Amino acid sequence: MSHLKSLDELEKIRQRALEETRVRQAGHKTQITIGMGTCGIAAGARETMAAILAELGKRNLTDVVITQTGCVGLCEKEPLVDVTKPGKPKVTYGNVDAEKAKKIVAQHVINDQVVGEWVVATR
Ligand code: FES
Repeated sequence: MSHLKSLDELEKIRQRALEETRVRQAGHKTQITIGMGTCGIAAGARETMAAILAELGKRNLTDVVITQTGCVGLCEKEPLVDVTKPGKPKVTYGNVDAEKAKKIVAQHVINDQVVGEWVVATR
């Protein structure tokens, strides 16, 4: 019986941990990561980055963290842009030019709707 009780306690601990994780993640910011490796830059990642920054600025979005990453081995899909919203899986978009970047900010970052047609991976 003490065995069952401890399972019960474990479940409570697990629930508490899940809740704490959820609360912590809710406080996190949306993160946008742009592939700025050689191939990304060759494919226009600088323009993509500039478009994202301009769009965020125009809309006064200050709670978004922008980071860069190097090559991830998906040359033909560059420029790659990851969007990670708090508590959601990371969504990777491929061949993101300036126009697509603006739509991703408007539709995904602001309105929480993934732009399915440009997604190359989710994790
Ligand atoms: S050279 Fe950058 S992903 Fe291939």
